[in-house]
Amino acid sequence: MAAEKFHFLIVGVPLSPLHNCISIGQELCLRGHNVTVMSFADRGRQKVAKYAPKCKLNYLSLGELPVSDDKEEELVRQMLTSNSTLLQMSFMMQNLMTPYFDQLQVGVSKALKSGLVRPSFGLLGLPFGGVGRELQVLGIDFAVNVPTILVPPINPWASSFIPLPFHLVSPHNMTFVDRLLVIGGNSLLNFGRHLAVAAGFQFSFMPDLSPDMWRGRLAFVNSIPGVDYPQLLPPLVQYTGPVVDVKKMEPFPPEVESWLESVPEGMPVVYVSYGTMVRLTAERVAATLSTLTSTEHFTLWALPKTQQVGLPDTLPSSIMIHHWIPSARALAHPKVKAFVSHCGGNSAVECMAMGKPLIGYPQFGDQMAVCQRIADAGAGITGPQGGWVQAEDVRHVLAEPRYAVRAQTMSRLLEKFGGTSRAADLLEMAAAGDLAPLRTPLEGSTSSSFFMAGYDLVIYAQLLAFALMFMCMRCCACCCRSRNRHASAEKKKQ
Ligand SMILES: *[C@@H]1O[C@H](CO)[C@@H](O)[C@H](O)[C@H]1NC(C)=O
Ligand SMILES: *[C@@H]1O[C@H](CO)[C@@H](O)[C@H](O)[C@H]1NC(C)=O
Repeated sequence: MAAEKFHFLIVGVPLSPLHNCISIGQELCLRGHNVTVMSFADRGRQKVAKYAPKCKLNYLSLGELPVSDDKEEELVRQMLTSNSTLLQMSFMMQNLMTPYFDQLQVGVSKALKSGLVRPSFGLLGLPFGGVGRELQVLGIDFAVNVPTILVPPINPWASSFIPLPFHLVSPHNMTFVDRLLVIGGNSLLNFGRHLAVAAGFQFSFMPDLSPDMWRGRLAFVNSIPGVDYPQLLPPLVQYTGPVVDVKKMEPFPPEVESWLESVPEGMPVVYVSYGTMVRLTAERVAATLSTLTSTEHFTLWALPKTQQVGLPDTLPSSIMIHHWIPSARALAHPKVKAFVSHCGGNSAVECMAMGKPLIGYPQFGDQMAVCQRIADAGAGITGPQGGWVQAEDVRHVLAEPRYAVRAQTMSRLLEKFGGTSRAADLLEMAAAGDLAPLRTPLEGSTSSSFFMAGYDLVIYAQLLAFALMFMCMRCCACCCRSRNRHASAEKKKQ
């Protein structure tokens, strides 16, 4: 008997998290399912062509980009004038994501209600905005794809010991006060969110925050346990490893190819890329150039044309700067020995998949947590958020072979988690209703959420009461002692 064929709907804003969903869509399409992608304008269409080259997915544009390319570039530049992740995120939320969310929800709602597209199951990339709610209302079940790791506040199961991305401490070196803030804060936040859902509140500002959108659903995390923080997860949350074809080798531009050939044998090359979102100022470009000019290594730097204005006319022969370098091919090149990166989702996965040590300088969002986890695994090092490449960091990573050895191990591990094929298997089962036995009663409803986590607050209150009692007792003891001392001193005087 031929396996049942389904119609899968993929929806996402045309930013990098959509790549992963399209890549899973390609696998579904190759298996004979009907796959429709909804996103914006030609940017979405190009992403479909690029990440699903082997199979034809239907593409439905939900209209023009709500924020133009130029405006987006300007917004990112403005965002990076602050180092506060909280300010960065609320700024981007207001100016970039809200216009996207509004148009996304309207467009998807129209397309589905017109009956033009009749999906049997959805796959939503983060952030999905009001689309989850639309599908829920129409009774279409969906899975969510998380491109990197699980961190609060969006994901309702992320462990409470993991700091919110804007609380810049690592779980390794939190003080007692940090822990109180992080664990207490996360628990309160979760409690509040469940309470809000129970009371019928709609998270219109950031619909992904609603636990209701996640509860009892299939969710993919495109990394591996261990790169992600250890946490207690319901059975429908599944690690897939990388789902984009990281080993897809596009050719180098000829000038990059011939420069790489000219690098003397035994001379390490450092590959530098801050991705497509981070915009370097002319001063920053000049400073980075002088930092990377060295007699100990060569440098291959992917830098968009618009950012090349600060460069001198001639570069030292040890440095190659080009606006387009295929990252996977660069990282796979045997002469490339380390990767200077901001730990954006795609870069981080390519770095690990190709087994090259990381020299990380996270800039915003979950990048700090991602860089930190790679560094924790011993496959590189990371600087502070908002930092820029330092010569001594590069020297250090090149000089210590242990980073490269560990990076190679990571690369072998990453391959073992199934990628697109596993994601597609699970989606087929979910669409057929075969995953129902994994839906535990314990995470299926608001009341069970309180049952599972609602008592945490009572425990914290108890601990707090104990701590206060202890402090009171100490205080009293001190008081008594000093009064006694005082009294005996008085007696002596008499
Ligand atoms: C696949 O989906 C598209 C809508 O995106 C629809 O027009 C088409 O008829 C569907 N094909 C099949 C074979 O169901
Ligand atoms: C952000 O932090 C880094 C590292 O601590 C620092 O070098 C940089 O100047 C800061 N940037 C801003 C805009 O405050």
